[in-house]
Amino acid sequence: MEQQEPLREFSIRDNYRRMVFYQIWVRSFFDGNGDGIGDLYGVYDKLGYIRSLGADAIWLCPVYPSPNADYGYDISDYKSIHPDFGDMEQFRKVLDRTHQLGMKLIMDLVVNHTSDEHPWFKESRKGKDNPYSDYYIWRDKPNNWDSLFEGKAWEYDEMRGQYYLHIFSKKQPDLNMDNPKVREEVKSIMRFWLDMGVDGFREDVINFISKKEGLPDGLPFIPAVNGMFAYKDGPHIHEYLSEFRRVTEKYDCIQIGEGPMTTVKTALMYLTGKHRSLDMMFSFDHMMADCLFTEYIHLPFNLKKLKKAFSKWQYSLNGRAWNTLYLENHDHPRIISRYGSEKLRRESGTMLAVCYMFQQGSVFIYQGQEIGMTNIRLRDINEYKDISSKTNFWKYHLKDSLEDRMRRIHRSSRDSSRTPMQWTAAKYAGFSRVKPWFTVNPNYKRVNVASEESDPDSILNFYRRCVRLKKSSRVLTYGSYREYFPDSHEIYMYEREYWGHHWLIICSFSKHIVNVKLPKNFEGRPNELLLCNYSGERKDNMCFEPYEARVYRFL
Ligand code: NOJ
Repeated sequence: MEQQEPLREFSIRDNYRRMVFYQIWVRSFFDGNGDGIGDLYGVYDKLGYIRSLGADAIWLCPVYPSPNADYGYDISDYKSIHPDFGDMEQFRKVLDRTHQLGMKLIMDLVVNHTSDEHPWFKESRKGKDNPYSDYYIWRDKPNNWDSLFEGKAWEYDEMRGQYYLHIFSKKQPDLNMDNPKVREEVKSIMRFWLDMGVDGFREDVINFISKKEGLPDGLPFIPAVNGMFAYKDGPHIHEYLSEFRRVTEKYDCIQIGEGPMTTVKTALMYLTGKHRSLDMMFSFDHMMADCLFTEYIHLPFNLKKLKKAFSKWQYSLNGRAWNTLYLENHDHPRIISRYGSEKLRRESGTMLAVCYMFQQGSVFIYQGQEIGMTNIRLRDINEYKDISSKTNFWKYHLKDSLEDRMRRIHRSSRDSSRTPMQWTAAKYAGFSRVKPWFTVNPNYKRVNVASEESDPDSILNFYRRCVRLKKSSRVLTYGSYREYFPDSHEIYMYEREYWGHHWLIICSFSKHIVNVKLPKNFEGRPNELLLCNYSGERKDNMCFEPYEARVYRFL
């Protein structure tokens, strides 16, 4: 395995634009203590592997105590570690080792809601004169908002005699961020982890934390998102985020906000100017090239839609803010199964790496993406674990045949990205010595880290090459972006330009051979082919094989 030298101490605030992040959904990453559940012992053991990819930072999905209604995104204690994952001592070991290897560590900060088992909620339920009474959003009469996960967004609580708001599951009551005491709690959580040495936060649905005053009804057009325009980007959002920014400014750390339904215009409000309170944002437009709003409303893959989304963000943020570049995370099915081809797994997996990584922005790689993991197809809905697979979208389609509904789940479930990481061809994919908490994808004998390590042409080794190339080039890091042939249904082509240096990235999304034409301004110019996912003499042969990808430097 290729190891990288540890980097010298570096500042994350200055360097995040050059960094590659590796995202870990701990429960399914690696089981270090033999109980079938991925944990911080496992993360510790695999830090060398992550560094060998060229990663500069890890992002840990929530590792706090949680009843797991939403696998960690329902937190019952913000200043502790879930016993399934280890303890604070083990967390510190992971943090220290990450730093020794020259990487940074960012945590998930989930403060739009807590678990209903958090002591604050247990107190808040007790009544209006309780000190925690206003920590959550209580009403005598609910409005018409939908929950993104389960039916309506309000649940009646017998003990309190009122309804509480939950944008996600019933077990995830929304915090009342308008209450200054709640904001103080958030700041205290941030300081707790920053004082320990963590390097920043990925801030969960952060654009939801301020809701429109009076909580007005939404227009009931699309079930599940009804109300979203009243609970996202609310009137105090920038004020609250600025308060949090004043905490983080005292540390060398970064803040990356997750922003469902974020538009370029709203993102720029978070990322620039007097409201600047985040360093980067996760946007979603490019994750909707085969669906409408959510993967559960499935449409055929549309390359033009994907390119349009990529280009919109590239053009709009250039020179003003910085993009996050990602194709997978724990909330989306696997990208090869969506935008590529499981049959041409290596070809499409490597092409997809090229298509996103060389844009302008910081690269994020999600566990298993680098070995080309694909969707799982379980036979029974009860075998699925994720709440969003089993609630709204399953129930909204009760009238459809079981077969149709299962097909929808196979395409859309977040669980496809949450199956145990496939390390070897041994039993349980080398993830654990005992039966894992969740089904291993049956393709693990073929698709696993060990076999990818031993093949120089594997997806894994190609990811390493891409990361090396990206990090070694100022053109690929800082250059401007220009798309060519936006109307092509087969080719995605873009240029990166920096101080007169021109590079061209060409990706074929076709299953067939395609003849590619260079843009006029590149025709006949000498060039060097720096990267290609096919071997052999490719440079001047413009017939692209299925899912071929190339990176040219023009001289
Ligand atoms: C976004 C997280 O990424 C997702 O996993 C979670 O279900 C929701 N926010 C609610 O916290």
